[in-house]
Amino acid sequence: MASTVLNFSASLLTLFFFFLRSADAEIGSSNIFSMQSYGARGDGRHDDTKALVDAWAAACSSAKPAVVLIPKGKKYLTKHTTLSGPCKSSILLMVKGSLVASPERSDWSKETVKHWILFSGVTSLTVTGGGTIDGNGKIWWQNSCKTNSKLPCTQAPTALTFYSCKNLKVENLKVVNSQQIQISVEDCTHVKMSRLSIFAPETSPNTDGIHITRSRDVQVADCTIKTGDDCMSIEDGTENLHVKNLVCGPGHGISIGSLGDHSSEDHVNNVTVDNVRMYGTTNGARIKTWQGGKGSAKNIVFQNMIMDNVWNPIIIDQNYCDSSTPCKQQKSAVEVSNVLFKNIRGTSASEEAIMLHCSSSVPCHAITLENVKLTVKGGSSDAKSTCQNAEWKKSGSVSPQPCGFSN
Ligand SMILES: *[C@@H]1O[C@H](CO)[C@@H](O)[C@H](O)[C@H]1NC(C)=O
Repeated sequence: MASTVLNFSASLLTLFFFFLRSADAEIGSSNIFSMQSYGARGDGRHDDTKALVDAWAAACSSAKPAVVLIPKGKKYLTKHTTLSGPCKSSILLMVKGSLVASPERSDWSKETVKHWILFSGVTSLTVTGGGTIDGNGKIWWQNSCKTNSKLPCTQAPTALTFYSCKNLKVENLKVVNSQQIQISVEDCTHVKMSRLSIFAPETSPNTDGIHITRSRDVQVADCTIKTGDDCMSIEDGTENLHVKNLVCGPGHGISIGSLGDHSSEDHVNNVTVDNVRMYGTTNGARIKTWQGGKGSAKNIVFQNMIMDNVWNPIIIDQNYCDSSTPCKQQKSAVEVSNVLFKNIRGTSASEEAIMLHCSSSVPCHAITLENVKLTVKGGSSDAKSTCQNAEWKKSGSVSPQPCGFSN
């Protein structure tokens, strides 16, 4: 009896090792394309761009699932890089060490200045590994017109851009000190982003944490974002976005928009932002649109949010104007409707905890506030709400009391 049990467990063990080995074989050493094997130095001083491009090219033409490895304990200095698909199989970019951007602005030309690392047209890409993507952005921040108004306004690279990717996973990474936007997702479908730590100083200009545009079926979960601009910016063409478990701040908060700039037609549909804590951000849950635009922002839920010392915890601003000259009153506007702010509590840094400033030509409608409790930080005065052209209702208890509200 005892020997049967022993035999049985022995064969289980054999089976187990068999599976272990076959899993190994699946991503065998022949399918690992390490930057180190492509001539990278990894000393943080020499330019390793070519090694990254070559390792990617080899992986991308592999018939079997391939791994591009950024080895641990090394720093790979790189300039503008485009990593393109389509690839023959799925690609895993394993970032164990760090990729560091060149600190020379002259390494970027007019043509390449928008991007540091650009992934373009890749299907089934996973970027993970626990390593660091460091944009080395200081030199760009110092030369920004937002830092020094005497300087001309110029562009700076986005650290990571995912353009036209399908079945994309970005997880377990640190993205720090980007030159401008930290991670931008553009024209992608089926995207999962999770366990990202995204950091840049509060004073760094335009360093949005996660920027999403023209993309569908996107999930963002379990991220910490401390930065100088929006924690997340959710722009035109975003559809079916689910965000959960985020910690934001410092920064400008979570924004849908800005939509409708330069009279454009923009659409954002079906966005849920759930379980977020915001610390000292300028905005909490925000929708912002320019005057003169067209299109819609609808089916939006901001729920289970805790605000700590947030300047504008709940804000719809349809007169957004981020321009040096005042924006003129205009007839058309992006239509904002079916928006729910639910279970939102905490403190506001300003008295105006709730601002619903909608367009006079296209008023917001079907706006619901449900179980909201916001007080002014320190409690020196009462929180207020201000509204223009907003049709809204409340559910449960809402404090401060909705303005112009009668029931
Ligand atoms: C809204 O988006 C979620 C994912 O965030 C998705 O599960 C759901 O089906 C979408 N709803 C519609 C009506 O498309």
